[in-house]
Amino acid sequence: MQSIKDSKTYREISQIMNTDIFKKKIEYSFDKYADKYDSRTFLQKEIMSVLLNFLDQEISMTNKKKKNHLLDLGCGTGELSNILIKKLNFNKIHLLDLSSQMLNIAKKKINKDNVLFDRNDFDSFCQFDDYDMIVSNMALHWSANFIVFIERILNQMRKNTIFIFSIPDNKSFSFLKKVKLGELINKFPEKEIILKKNY
Ligand SMILES: C[S@@+](CC[C@H](N)C(=O)[O-])C[C@H]1O[C@@H](n2cnc3c(N)ncnc32)[C@H](O)[C@@H]1O
Repeated sequence: MQSIKDSKTYREISQIMNTDIFKKKIEYSFDKYADKYDSRTFLQKEIMSVLLNFLDQEISMTNKKKKNHLLDLGCGTGELSNILIKKLNFNKIHLLDLSSQMLNIAKKKINKDNVLFDRNDFDSFCQFDDYDMIVSNMALHWSANFIVFIERILNQMRKNTIFIFSIPDNKSFSFLKKVKLGELINKFPEKEIILKKNY
């Protein structure tokens, strides 16, 4: 007979397996379309420019001059970091993404010695205290558990670290709800819940 403990373990195992399959699907999709990504993603670029304008207004002159350590989560083809590198001072840059094909394009774009191209899952990353600036454009909603993940970043990052990101929320892309994209469409978080995490 199966005990409650056993069935819980079974649930946990099947959850891990589902998460693994979900990640593999994300990796496969971005690998497959990496070479078309830059020419076809107008929305992502538009949102990136809003994010950059916001950062420009919020960041102090001292921070603009300071030599910073940058982390770009779900960097994709490296577009955001490539723009930031030209605007601000960074002594080290860490580009992290699940898709090696997206990273390969970023490598061609950003040809600098102080850049780490890291094929990694941001959900298992845990050194957020190493950075002065953490950025992410249209990527963190792919997290296996967005709220837990955001909480981990906020808890681990240093007090003066700038953390800036964009994601769709549960009101974005209502047209997509009619398209059958299966599990690839994540449950986007509610803005109100994210704002409550603002420590
Ligand atoms: C819509 S693209 C955005 C790319 C880039 N930030 C931009 O603005 O163009 C989302 C990126 O997040 C990456 N990604 C999704 N889940 C991830 C995860 N768990 N860990 C690391 N990267 C992930 C994908 O591989 C993809 O490159």
